[in-house]
Amino acid sequence: MAEKTWVRMVTAQTPTNIAVIKYWGKRDETLILPVNDSISVTLDPAHLCTITTVAVSPSFDQDRMWLNGKEISLSGGRYQNCLREIRARACEVEDKEKGIKIAKNDWEKLHVRVASYNNFPTAAGLASSAAGFACLVFALAKLMKAKEDNSELSAIARQGSGSACRSLFGGFVKWIMGKAEDGSDSLAVQLVDEKHWDELVIIIAVVSSRQKETSSTTGMRDSVETSLLLQHRAKEVVPKRIKQMEEAIKNRDFGSFAQLTCADSNQFHAVCLDTCPPIFYMNDTSHRQVKIISCVEKWNCSEGTPQVAYTFDAGPNAVLIAHNRKAATQLIQKLLFCFPPSSDADLNCYVIGDKSILKDAGIEDIKDVEALPPPPEIKDAQRSKGDVSYFICTKPGRGPDLLSDESLALLHPETGLPK
Ligand code: ADE
Repeated sequence: MAEKTWVRMVTAQTPTNIAVIKYWGKRDETLILPVNDSISVTLDPAHLCTITTVAVSPSFDQDRMWLNGKEISLSGGRYQNCLREIRARACEVEDKEKGIKIAKNDWEKLHVRVASYNNFPTAAGLASSAAGFACLVFALAKLMKAKEDNSELSAIARQGSGSACRSLFGGFVKWIMGKAEDGSDSLAVQLVDEKHWDELVIIIAVVSSRQKETSSTTGMRDSVETSLLLQHRAKEVVPKRIKQMEEAIKNRDFGSFAQLTCADSNQFHAVCLDTCPPIFYMNDTSHRQVKIISCVEKWNCSEGTPQVAYTFDAGPNAVLIAHNRKAATQLIQKLLFCFPPSSDADLNCYVIGDKSILKDAGIEDIKDVEALPPPPEIKDAQRSKGDVSYFICTKPGRGPDLLSDESLALLHPETGLPK
Protein backbone atom coordinates (compact mmCIF):
# COMPACT_ATOMS: atom_id res chain seq x y z
CA MET A 1 0.00 0.00 0.00
CA ALA A 2 1.24 3.49 -0.80
CA GLU A 3 2.67 5.32 2.19
CA LYS A 4 0.24 7.93 3.54
CA THR A 5 1.64 11.36 2.96
CA TRP A 6 0.60 14.88 3.88
CA VAL A 7 -1.11 17.67 1.95
CA ARG A 8 -0.70 21.30 3.11
CA MET A 9 -3.47 23.58 1.90
CA VAL A 10 -4.43 27.27 2.04
CA THR A 11 -7.63 28.95 0.78
CA ALA A 12 -7.95 32.68 0.13
CA GLN A 13 -10.54 35.11 -1.19
CA THR A 14 -9.62 38.19 -3.22
CA PRO A 15 -11.75 41.04 -4.60
CA THR A 16 -11.88 42.48 -8.07
CA ASN A 17 -11.35 46.18 -8.75
CA ILE A 18 -12.43 48.86 -11.22
CA ALA A 19 -10.06 51.61 -12.29
CA VAL A 20 -11.26 55.20 -11.96
CA ILE A 21 -7.98 56.47 -13.47
CA LYS A 22 -7.31 53.89 -16.16
CA TYR A 23 -4.29 51.72 -16.92
CA TRP A 24 -3.83 51.57 -20.69
CA GLY A 25 -0.44 50.86 -22.23
CA LYS A 26 2.66 48.93 -21.17
CA ARG A 27 6.25 50.12 -21.35
CA ASP A 28 7.45 46.52 -20.78
CA GLU A 29 5.24 43.67 -21.93
CA THR A 30 6.95 40.81 -20.10
CA LEU A 31 7.24 42.49 -16.70
CA ILE A 32 3.87 44.25 -17.28
CA LEU A 33 5.05 47.77 -16.50
CA PRO A 34 2.54 50.54 -17.30
CA VAL A 35 3.03 53.90 -19.00
CA ASN A 36 1.09 55.73 -16.25
CA ASP A 37 -0.08 55.41 -12.63
CA SER A 38 -3.68 54.24 -12.10
CA ILE A 39 -6.23 54.37 -9.26
CA SER A 40 -9.00 51.87 -8.56
CA VAL A 41 -11.80 51.14 -6.16
CA THR A 42 -11.94 47.61 -4.77
CA LEU A 43 -15.37 45.98 -5.09
CA ASP A 44 -17.00 44.20 -2.16
CA PRO A 45 -15.85 40.54 -2.28
CA ALA A 46 -19.25 39.51 -0.90
CA HIS A 47 -20.57 40.18 -4.41
CA LEU A 48 -17.58 39.76 -6.74
CA CYS A 49 -14.55 37.70 -5.80
CA THR A 50 -12.20 34.86 -6.59
CA ILE A 51 -11.68 32.00 -4.17
CA THR A 52 -8.48 30.01 -4.64
CA THR A 53 -7.16 26.96 -2.83
CA VAL A 54 -3.48 26.09 -3.22
CA ALA A 55 -1.96 22.84 -2.00
CA VAL A 56 1.47 21.26 -1.79
CA SER A 57 2.37 17.62 -1.19
CA PRO A 58 5.41 15.43 -1.83
CA SER A 59 3.00 13.13 -3.71
CA PHE A 60 2.27 15.74 -6.42
CA ASP A 61 4.34 15.07 -9.54
CA GLN A 62 3.59 18.30 -11.45
CA ASP A 63 2.04 21.76 -10.98
CA ARG A 64 -1.67 21.67 -11.94
CA MET A 65 -4.53 24.17 -11.93
CA TRP A 66 -8.30 24.05 -12.27
CA LEU A 67 -10.26 27.21 -13.08
CA ASN A 68 -14.00 27.08 -12.44
CA GLY A 69 -13.79 23.28 -12.37
CA LYS A 70 -11.88 22.82 -15.65
CA GLU A 71 -8.21 21.93 -15.76
CA ILE A 72 -6.10 24.64 -17.44
CA SER A 73 -2.43 24.76 -18.36
CA LEU A 74 0.04 26.53 -16.07
CA SER A 75 2.69 26.62 -18.79
CA GLY A 76 1.92 30.22 -19.86
CA GLY A 77 4.54 32.86 -19.07
CA ARG A 78 2.25 34.81 -16.73
CA TYR A 79 1.58 31.82 -14.46
CA GLN A 80 5.22 30.73 -14.65
CA ASN A 81 6.45 34.20 -13.63
CA CYS A 82 4.15 34.28 -10.59
CA LEU A 83 5.07 30.74 -9.51
CA ARG A 84 8.81 31.42 -9.92
CA GLU A 85 8.73 34.72 -8.01
CA ILE A 86 6.74 33.28 -5.10
CA ARG A 87 8.89 30.12 -4.90
CA ALA A 88 11.97 32.36 -4.67
CA ARG A 89 10.48 33.92 -1.51
CA ALA A 90 9.28 30.70 0.15
CA CYS A 91 10.36 30.07 3.74
CA GLU A 92 10.58 27.10 6.07
CA VAL A 93 7.19 25.66 7.06
CA GLU A 94 6.60 23.35 10.00
CA ASP A 95 3.28 21.88 11.18
CA LYS A 96 4.09 19.33 13.91
CA GLU A 97 0.46 18.22 14.26
CA LYS A 98 0.29 17.14 10.61
CA GLY A 99 3.90 15.93 10.50
CA ILE A 100 4.84 18.55 7.90
CA LYS A 101 8.34 19.99 7.66
CA ILE A 102 9.37 21.84 4.53
CA ALA A 103 12.85 23.41 4.43
CA LYS A 104 13.36 26.61 2.44
CA ASN A 105 15.27 24.74 -0.27
CA ASP A 106 12.60 22.01 -0.60
CA TRP A 107 10.12 24.36 -2.30
CA GLU A 108 11.83 24.30 -5.69
CA LYS A 109 11.36 20.50 -5.85
CA LEU A 110 7.79 20.41 -4.57
CA HIS A 111 4.77 20.77 -6.86
CA VAL A 112 1.59 22.72 -6.20
CA ARG A 113 -2.06 22.32 -7.14
CA VAL A 114 -4.39 25.26 -7.57
CA ALA A 115 -8.17 25.38 -7.79
CA SER A 116 -9.81 28.73 -8.42
CA TYR A 117 -13.40 29.82 -8.70
CA ASN A 118 -14.79 33.20 -9.76
CA ASN A 119 -18.24 33.93 -8.32
CA PHE A 120 -19.11 35.89 -11.50
CA PRO A 121 -18.82 35.02 -15.23
CA THR A 122 -15.13 34.84 -16.16
CA ALA A 123 -15.70 36.25 -19.66
CA ALA A 124 -18.07 39.04 -18.55
CA GLY A 125 -15.31 41.66 -18.60
CA LEU A 126 -15.35 42.11 -14.84
CA ALA A 127 -11.59 41.91 -14.28
CA SER A 128 -11.63 38.22 -13.34
CA SER A 129 -7.93 37.88 -14.12
CA ALA A 130 -7.22 40.76 -11.70
CA ALA A 131 -8.93 38.99 -8.81
CA GLY A 132 -7.57 35.63 -10.06
CA PHE A 133 -3.87 36.48 -10.16
CA ALA A 134 -4.08 38.49 -6.92
CA CYS A 135 -5.65 35.48 -5.22
CA LEU A 136 -3.14 33.03 -6.69
CA VAL A 137 -0.16 35.07 -5.49
CA PHE A 138 -1.69 35.85 -2.08
CA ALA A 139 -2.63 32.19 -1.43
CA LEU A 140 0.76 30.84 -2.60
CA ALA A 141 2.56 33.41 -0.41
CA LYS A 142 0.63 32.16 2.63
CA LEU A 143 1.16 28.50 1.69
CA MET A 144 4.92 29.10 1.48
CA LYS A 145 5.03 31.49 4.46
CA ALA A 146 6.62 34.24 2.35
CA LYS A 147 7.37 37.29 4.51
CA GLU A 148 6.53 39.94 1.89
CA ASP A 149 3.80 42.48 2.62
CA ASN A 150 0.85 43.03 0.26
CA SER A 151 2.62 45.81 -1.68
CA GLU A 152 5.56 43.51 -2.35
CA LEU A 153 3.16 40.72 -3.34
CA SER A 154 1.37 43.18 -5.64
CA ALA A 155 4.56 43.51 -7.72
CA ILE A 156 4.41 39.73 -8.27
CA ALA A 157 0.67 39.65 -9.02
CA ARG A 158 1.31 42.44 -11.55
CA GLN A 159 3.36 39.96 -13.59
CA GLY A 160 0.26 37.78 -13.95
CA SER A 161 -2.15 40.58 -14.90
CA GLY A 162 -1.36 44.28 -14.53
CA SER A 163 -4.55 45.31 -12.74
CA ALA A 164 -4.20 42.30 -10.38
CA CYS A 165 -1.70 44.32 -8.34
CA ARG A 166 -4.54 46.65 -7.24
CA SER A 167 -6.62 43.72 -5.91
CA LEU A 168 -4.20 43.16 -3.01
CA PHE A 169 -5.85 45.98 -1.06
CA GLY A 170 -9.35 47.11 -0.14
CA GLY A 171 -10.77 50.62 -0.46
CA PHE A 172 -9.02 52.92 -2.96
CA VAL A 173 -5.70 51.77 -4.38
CA LYS A 174 -2.94 53.39 -6.45
CA TRP A 175 -0.71 51.39 -8.78
CA ILE A 176 2.53 53.37 -8.91
CA MET A 177 4.04 52.88 -12.37
CA GLY A 178 7.63 52.95 -11.03
CA LYS A 179 10.85 53.81 -12.82
CA ALA A 180 13.11 50.78 -12.28
CA GLU A 181 13.86 48.64 -15.33
CA ASP A 182 13.34 45.43 -13.34
CA GLY A 183 9.86 46.57 -12.24
CA SER A 184 10.69 46.35 -8.53
CA ASP A 185 9.07 49.74 -7.80
CA SER A 186 5.95 49.16 -9.91
CA LEU A 187 3.52 48.19 -7.18
CA ALA A 188 0.22 48.97 -5.48
CA VAL A 189 -0.34 51.00 -2.32
CA GLN A 190 -3.57 51.57 -0.43
CA LEU A 191 -4.76 55.19 -0.48
CA VAL A 192 -7.64 54.72 2.00
CA ASP A 193 -9.42 51.64 3.29
CA GLU A 194 -13.01 50.67 2.49
CA LYS A 195 -14.40 52.39 5.59
CA HIS A 196 -13.11 55.82 4.55
CA TRP A 197 -15.86 56.43 1.96
CA ASP A 198 -18.50 53.83 2.76
CA GLU A 199 -21.57 55.76 1.58
CA LEU A 200 -20.66 55.12 -2.07
CA VAL A 201 -22.87 52.62 -3.92
CA ILE A 202 -21.64 50.87 -7.07
CA ILE A 203 -24.05 49.50 -9.68
CA ILE A 204 -22.69 47.44 -12.58
CA ALA A 205 -24.77 46.87 -15.70
CA VAL A 206 -23.49 43.55 -17.04
CA VAL A 207 -24.14 43.61 -20.74
CA SER A 208 -23.03 40.27 -22.08
CA SER A 209 -20.80 37.40 -21.13
CA ARG A 210 -19.36 37.22 -24.63
CA GLN A 211 -15.55 37.24 -24.81
CA LYS A 212 -14.39 40.69 -25.98
CA GLU A 213 -13.15 40.99 -29.56
CA THR A 214 -9.86 42.83 -28.95
CA SER A 215 -7.85 41.47 -26.02
CA SER A 216 -6.46 44.15 -23.70
CA THR A 217 -2.89 42.98 -24.43
CA THR A 218 -3.25 43.43 -28.19
CA GLY A 219 -5.24 46.66 -27.81
CA MET A 220 -2.68 48.22 -25.47
CA ARG A 221 0.21 47.25 -27.76
CA ASP A 222 -1.49 48.85 -30.78
CA SER A 223 -2.29 52.00 -28.74
CA VAL A 224 1.31 52.37 -27.49
CA GLU A 225 2.63 51.95 -31.04
CA THR A 226 0.18 54.24 -32.84
CA SER A 227 -1.74 56.66 -30.59
CA LEU A 228 -0.30 60.14 -30.08
CA LEU A 229 -3.17 60.80 -27.70
CA LEU A 230 -1.86 57.97 -25.48
CA GLN A 231 1.55 59.69 -25.27
CA HIS A 232 -0.10 63.00 -24.32
CA ARG A 233 -2.39 61.25 -21.82
CA ALA A 234 0.44 59.34 -20.11
CA LYS A 235 2.84 62.29 -19.88
CA GLU A 236 0.57 65.31 -19.38
CA VAL A 237 -2.94 64.31 -18.37
CA VAL A 238 -2.70 61.37 -15.97
CA PRO A 239 0.00 62.76 -13.61
CA LYS A 240 -2.25 65.79 -12.89
CA ARG A 241 -5.39 63.66 -12.65
CA ILE A 242 -3.74 61.26 -10.21
CA LYS A 243 -2.98 64.13 -7.82
CA GLN A 244 -6.51 65.56 -8.18
CA MET A 245 -8.09 62.13 -7.71
CA GLU A 246 -6.03 61.45 -4.56
CA GLU A 247 -7.26 64.77 -3.13
CA ALA A 248 -10.87 64.06 -4.11
CA ILE A 249 -10.75 60.63 -2.42
CA LYS A 250 -9.02 61.95 0.69
CA ASN A 251 -11.65 64.74 1.06
CA ARG A 252 -14.60 62.56 -0.05
CA ASP A 253 -15.24 65.26 -2.65
CA PHE A 254 -17.77 63.47 -4.87
CA GLY A 255 -18.10 66.32 -7.39
CA SER A 256 -14.39 66.19 -8.28
CA PHE A 257 -14.32 62.39 -8.02
CA ALA A 258 -17.18 62.02 -10.52
CA GLN A 259 -15.82 64.61 -12.94
CA LEU A 260 -12.36 62.94 -12.98
CA THR A 261 -13.75 59.40 -13.22
CA CYS A 262 -16.04 60.18 -16.19
CA ALA A 263 -13.39 62.26 -17.98
CA ASP A 264 -10.80 59.51 -17.58
CA SER A 265 -13.13 56.78 -18.87
CA ASN A 266 -13.98 58.95 -21.87
CA GLN A 267 -10.31 59.67 -22.58
CA PHE A 268 -9.43 55.99 -22.37
CA HIS A 269 -12.05 55.24 -25.06
CA ALA A 270 -10.77 58.22 -27.08
CA VAL A 271 -7.28 56.63 -27.00
CA CYS A 272 -8.85 53.39 -28.23
CA LEU A 273 -10.42 55.27 -31.17
CA ASP A 274 -7.09 57.07 -31.78
CA THR A 275 -5.39 53.66 -32.17
CA CYS A 276 -4.57 52.18 -35.57
CA PRO A 277 -6.53 50.07 -36.29
CA PRO A 278 -9.15 51.73 -34.04
CA ILE A 279 -10.53 49.75 -31.12
CA PHE A 280 -14.30 50.00 -30.56
CA TYR A 281 -14.86 48.60 -27.09
CA MET A 282 -18.22 50.34 -26.97
CA ASN A 283 -19.16 49.54 -30.55
CA ASP A 284 -21.63 46.65 -30.46
CA THR A 285 -23.57 48.12 -27.57
CA SER A 286 -23.05 51.82 -28.23
CA HIS A 287 -26.75 52.76 -28.00
CA ARG A 288 -26.75 51.47 -24.40
CA GLN A 289 -23.58 53.35 -23.46
CA VAL A 290 -24.85 56.56 -25.04
CA LYS A 291 -28.13 56.20 -23.17
CA ILE A 292 -26.38 55.62 -19.84
CA ILE A 293 -23.76 58.35 -20.35
CA SER A 294 -26.23 61.00 -21.51
CA CYS A 295 -28.70 60.13 -18.74
CA VAL A 296 -25.99 60.49 -16.07
CA GLU A 297 -24.56 63.67 -17.62
CA LYS A 298 -28.00 65.32 -17.84
CA TRP A 299 -29.00 64.21 -14.36
CA ASN A 300 -25.73 65.48 -12.85
CA CYS A 301 -26.20 68.76 -14.70
CA SER A 302 -29.81 69.20 -13.57
CA GLU A 303 -28.89 68.56 -9.92
CA GLY A 304 -26.15 71.19 -10.10
CA THR A 305 -23.72 68.78 -8.46
CA PRO A 306 -22.80 65.25 -9.63
CA GLN A 307 -24.84 62.39 -8.17
CA VAL A 308 -23.31 59.54 -10.15
CA ALA A 309 -20.03 58.77 -11.94
CA TYR A 310 -19.76 56.33 -14.86
CA THR A 311 -16.75 54.35 -16.02
CA PHE A 312 -16.38 51.81 -18.84
CA ASP A 313 -13.47 49.37 -19.08
CA ALA A 314 -12.23 47.46 -22.11
CA GLY A 315 -15.66 45.93 -22.61
CA PRO A 316 -19.29 46.96 -22.80
CA ASN A 317 -20.24 46.84 -19.09
CA ALA A 318 -21.12 50.12 -17.39
CA VAL A 319 -19.92 50.74 -13.84
CA LEU A 320 -21.88 53.46 -12.07
CA ILE A 321 -20.75 54.92 -8.76
CA ALA A 322 -23.46 56.75 -6.82
CA HIS A 323 -22.67 59.39 -4.21
CA ASN A 324 -24.91 57.80 -1.55
CA ARG A 325 -27.96 55.58 -1.04
CA LYS A 326 -30.39 58.33 -2.07
CA ALA A 327 -28.63 58.77 -5.40
CA ALA A 328 -28.35 54.98 -5.82
CA THR A 329 -32.09 54.56 -5.21
CA GLN A 330 -32.90 57.09 -7.94
CA LEU A 331 -30.27 55.54 -10.20
CA ILE A 332 -31.69 52.01 -10.01
CA GLN A 333 -35.15 53.40 -10.80
CA LYS A 334 -33.83 55.16 -13.91
CA LEU A 335 -31.79 52.12 -14.98
CA LEU A 336 -34.70 49.70 -14.53
CA PHE A 337 -36.99 52.02 -16.50
CA CYS A 338 -34.53 52.12 -19.42
CA PHE A 339 -33.40 48.49 -19.22
CA PRO A 340 -36.24 46.44 -17.75
CA PRO A 341 -36.02 42.66 -17.35
CA SER A 342 -38.08 40.55 -19.74
CA SER A 343 -41.64 40.00 -18.43
CA ASP A 344 -40.99 36.38 -17.40
CA ALA A 345 -37.67 37.18 -15.69
CA ASP A 346 -37.12 36.84 -11.97
CA LEU A 347 -36.26 40.27 -10.55
CA ASN A 348 -34.19 38.48 -7.91
CA CYS A 349 -31.84 37.22 -10.62
CA TYR A 350 -31.92 40.48 -12.59
CA VAL A 351 -30.66 42.64 -9.71
CA ILE A 352 -28.09 40.80 -7.61
CA GLY A 353 -25.72 41.74 -4.79
CA ASP A 354 -27.01 44.25 -2.21
CA LYS A 355 -30.77 44.05 -2.81
CA SER A 356 -31.56 46.64 -0.13
CA ILE A 357 -31.18 49.34 -2.83
CA LEU A 358 -34.16 47.80 -4.65
CA LYS A 359 -36.16 47.79 -1.43
CA ASP A 360 -35.32 51.45 -0.77
CA ALA A 361 -36.49 52.20 -4.31
CA GLY A 362 -39.85 50.55 -3.53
CA ILE A 363 -39.31 47.87 -6.19
CA GLU A 364 -40.41 44.39 -5.14
CA ASP A 365 -41.55 42.77 -8.37
CA ILE A 366 -41.85 43.21 -12.12
CA LYS A 367 -45.09 45.18 -11.71
CA ASP A 368 -43.20 47.83 -9.74
CA VAL A 369 -40.64 48.02 -12.56
CA GLU A 370 -43.41 48.42 -15.15
CA ALA A 371 -44.90 51.28 -13.11
CA LEU A 372 -41.65 53.28 -12.97
CA PRO A 373 -41.87 56.80 -14.47
CA PRO A 374 -39.53 57.72 -17.34
CA PRO A 375 -36.37 59.56 -16.22
CA PRO A 376 -37.07 63.28 -16.85
CA GLU A 377 -33.49 63.71 -18.14
CA ILE A 378 -34.15 61.57 -21.21
CA LYS A 379 -36.45 62.94 -23.88
CA ASP A 380 -38.86 60.26 -25.16
CA ALA A 381 -37.13 57.64 -23.03
CA GLN A 382 -37.49 54.19 -24.62
CA ARG A 383 -37.51 50.96 -22.66
CA SER A 384 -35.26 48.27 -24.12
CA LYS A 385 -35.69 44.77 -22.78
CA GLY A 386 -32.82 42.32 -23.11
CA ASP A 387 -30.11 45.00 -23.45
CA VAL A 388 -28.69 44.30 -19.99
CA SER A 389 -28.09 40.74 -18.74
CA TYR A 390 -28.26 41.76 -15.07
CA PHE A 391 -27.30 44.45 -12.56
CA ILE A 392 -24.92 43.99 -9.62
CA CYS A 393 -25.37 46.34 -6.64
CA THR A 394 -22.24 46.56 -4.57
CA LYS A 395 -19.93 48.94 -2.69
CA PRO A 396 -16.25 49.55 -1.95
CA GLY A 397 -14.88 46.44 -0.26
CA ARG A 398 -11.98 44.96 1.65
CA GLY A 399 -8.81 43.33 0.38
CA PRO A 400 -7.69 39.67 0.39
CA ASP A 401 -8.62 37.33 3.23
CA LEU A 402 -7.47 33.90 4.28
CA LEU A 403 -10.43 31.53 4.66
CA SER A 404 -9.74 29.25 7.60
CA ASP A 405 -13.01 27.30 7.30
CA GLU A 406 -11.76 24.07 5.69
CA SER A 407 -15.19 23.33 4.23
CA LEU A 408 -14.63 26.28 1.83
CA ALA A 409 -11.50 24.69 0.33
CA LEU A 410 -11.80 23.82 -3.36
CA LEU A 411 -9.33 20.90 -3.17
CA HIS A 412 -9.86 17.65 -1.32
CA PRO A 413 -7.73 17.68 1.87
CA GLU A 414 -6.46 14.13 1.30
CA THR A 415 -6.19 13.69 -2.45
CA GLY A 416 -5.46 17.32 -3.40
CA LEU A 417 -7.90 16.95 -6.30
CA PRO A 418 -10.84 19.33 -6.97
CA LYS A 419 -13.87 18.60 -4.78
N1 ADE B 1 -8.31 34.33 -15.11
C1 ADE B 1 -9.62 34.48 -14.90
N2 ADE B 1 -9.98 34.04 -13.68
C2 ADE B 1 -8.84 33.59 -13.09
C3 ADE B 1 -8.55 32.99 -11.82
N3 ADE B 1 -9.50 32.81 -10.91
N4 ADE B 1 -7.29 32.63 -11.56
C4 ADE B 1 -6.34 32.83 -12.48
N5 ADE B 1 -6.52 33.37 -13.69
C5 ADE B 1 -7.78 33.76 -14.01
